[in-house]
Amino acid sequence: MAKAKIKIDKDYRIGEIDKRIYGSFIEHIGRAVYGGIYDPAHKLADDMGFRRDVMELVRELQVPVVRYPGGNFVSGYRWEDGIGPKDQRPRRPELAWFAVENNQVGTDEFCEWARRTGTNVMMAINLGTRGAEEARSLLEYCNFEGGTYWSDLRRKNGYQSPHNIMLWNLGNEMDGPWQIGHKTAAEYGRLAAETAKVMRWLDPRIELAVCGSSNSGMATCYEWESTVLEHTYEFVDYVSMHQYYGNPNNESIEDFLSNTLDMDRFINSIAATCDYIKAKKRSKKNIYISFDEWNVWYHAHPQNAKAIKWQEGPAFNEDIYNFEDALLVGGMLICLMRHSDRVRIACQAQLVNVIAPIMTENNGRIWKQTIYYPYLHASLYGRGTAMNLVLESPRFDTKRFAGAPVLDAVAVESEDNQFLTFFALNKSRETLETECNLRDYPGAHIEEMLVMTSDDPKKTNSADAPAAIVPRLSSAYTLDNNVLTVKLSPYSWNVIRVKL
Ligand code: AHR
Repeated sequence: MAKAKIKIDKDYRIGEIDKRIYGSFIEHIGRAVYGGIYDPAHKLADDMGFRRDVMELVRELQVPVVRYPGGNFVSGYRWEDGIGPKDQRPRRPELAWFAVENNQVGTDEFCEWARRTGTNVMMAINLGTRGAEEARSLLEYCNFEGGTYWSDLRRKNGYQSPHNIMLWNLGNEMDGPWQIGHKTAAEYGRLAAETAKVMRWLDPRIELAVCGSSNSGMATCYEWESTVLEHTYEFVDYVSMHQYYGNPNNESIEDFLSNTLDMDRFINSIAATCDYIKAKKRSKKNIYISFDEWNVWYHAHPQNAKAIKWQEGPAFNEDIYNFEDALLVGGMLICLMRHSDRVRIACQAQLVNVIAPIMTENNGRIWKQTIYYPYLHASLYGRGTAMNLVLESPRFDTKRFAGAPVLDAVAVESEDNQFLTFFALNKSRETLETECNLRDYPGAHIEEMLVMTSDDPKKTNSADAPAAIVPRLSSAYTLDNNVLTVKLSPYSWNVIRVKL
């Protein structure tokens, strides 16, 4: 049997995990809003038309922050279309996804949905077709108490208290030629700096994320961040990262799972780019990372090509996730936890129906995708201090990476110091016997071990078979004389909760 070792020392810590790394994303795209969070015809809709069953699952996931309203959508969005009496709101052709936006859900409704769901909003502003003027108006509308034009309008629209949105994105993927209002790094950097400046003057409490590259494969990647940060360094707190992985050519599961190594390298390189500008500017301030779009995304691409234009809430980008996708999502979560000293915010893209862990039928059933579970486990048990583990693992070569480790793992000491949770991914076809000496945690015992595994990597959940892939309790562990030994099943996601 293949063997691995995890070494842990109580004093070797990566740092406190910011719970916002378990954030998510709702864009006006496909059925994320219309037919997803909002479906007034549904029997479980509340007085505002929000599906209660969706809210319940979002609460179960304990999503701390949800990015809104885009995505590519935001780069053509007039936020004023989505406020005030609903029957007077315009219907508009929407150029990011070639749909019709009816504006029945806008800023006030989404902030109210977030309040009811127990989450916070990360608001993106349009820096594609608009600029500082519209951004400051939206900020005034959201965060001013009253007594000014936009804040009084919010009160007139029925929201007496400010929405108090503390986290803002300065546009979306402005480096991408597909973006409405695509810009060069210098054009965007200047615009973002001036917009950030006036937004901070208006509300100094807010935090701001500037757009980084759309993915690690962009030809301008790193050069983009460096130019943009030259302009914006003093005014912003975070640089955005986005990354999706797919398996359209049905490569081996080992190749597919080794994408986490690319994610690792990408984060390190962006952190290095931020630090280069810090050094150049002789600054004392660090720029942190907001990894505000990440996921597996490729299953629905062929259907998207056939999509009919100018529909309201069309089924679009509805990836149906299989078991191997859940493993990669688990690996990406481990990567985010391991980089929690630099990554302070991360949003899985997206939350409902569109490349999402939660699926709904219009006016019908709800079900959990395979990727729901690693996200749930990380969000619930991955809060506290990330530990700096040393891993000794067998290695394998993949198409893109030589010597990729079979074992990927991180451990988190809970905020109340009651639990130490190991998240471990076995990327090989063999059982991996993994040993960890817990001498720094005498008297510990295993609370539970959860495992997700499957003999078919392509197996999915569906509305008819919602529990085809679910985690189950495992007893494949021993803890003797402080030595924990676990048998990690072939191709498996494992959560080992040690009670301290
Ligand atoms: O999440 C889907 C899309 O992916 C977003 O709108 C965009 O920012 C990214 O390209």
